Amino acid sequence: MRRKIVAANWKMNLNQTQALELYSAIGLGKNDDVQLIVFPVALHAQMLIAQGGSIPLGIQNFYFESKGAFTGEISVIQVKDIGVQYVLIGHSERRSIFGESNEMIKKKVDAALEFGLTPLFCCGEPLGVRESGKELTFVREQLEQSLFHLDKRAIEKCIIAYEPVWAIGTGRTADSRQAEEMHASIRSWISERYNTEVAEKIPILYGGSCNPSNAGELFACPNVDGGLIGGASLDAASFLAIAGSF
Ligand code: PGA
Repeated sequence: MRRKIVAANWKMNLNQTQALELYSAIGLGKNDDVQLIVFPVALHAQMLIAQGGSIPLGIQNFYFESKGAFTGEISVIQVKDIGVQYVLIGHSERRSIFGESNEMIKKKVDAALEFGLTPLFCCGEPLGVRESGKELTFVREQLEQSLFHLDKRAIEKCIIAYEPVWAIGTGRTADSRQAEEMHASIRSWISERYNTEVAEKIPILYGGSCNPSNAGELFACPNVDGGLIGGASLDAASFLAIAGSF
């Protein structure tokens, strides 16, 4: 039985007080059947850890080198050092706004695993690719170039999130048929590259305008193991309602 996971990607939102309040409110309402993870801005992560909450934290971004002259960056060792457990890697905003390539994302995956952090690896196609019917080829290539170099033991530690770029922050969600088709395909590629046992273990989350009204239908899909939630995670009641939608 795969883990059910609902992760909050707070992106570049909230001040310290708001982050603390939201983190506490989510902690009070959590349900032990679902693994929650919160990805705050890096600046707030330490403060949330110091608060001693029970929800594990992740970082939205880091650099793959362990130290050195990389002004403005946070190293994988520094992330590990403050007690963070998860790292978001390959988010479409990092790819499109900050120019992260499949090659750089691969290095981040390797660095995270080397230092014992769990990668939440994001993949997903832009609108033009979906409209030309090439979404499966596009996502498969993202996985092959940045994730499928791992050996069995390493890939089993990863979580994957499928986030169609055209659904992120747009209010437009993939319907359950589109989500299930992609999730089942991802699982079959993992099975081909590794084996069925590995494929059955890896949680594959859906992200992209997931909210309390559509989460139930998406999470009912056999290959959707939870969600990576942006906008709707900034409100405790919405986020907890999504987490309660299995
Ligand atoms: P959204 O963002 O829920 O606001 O669409 C999801 C994400 O980018 O992870």
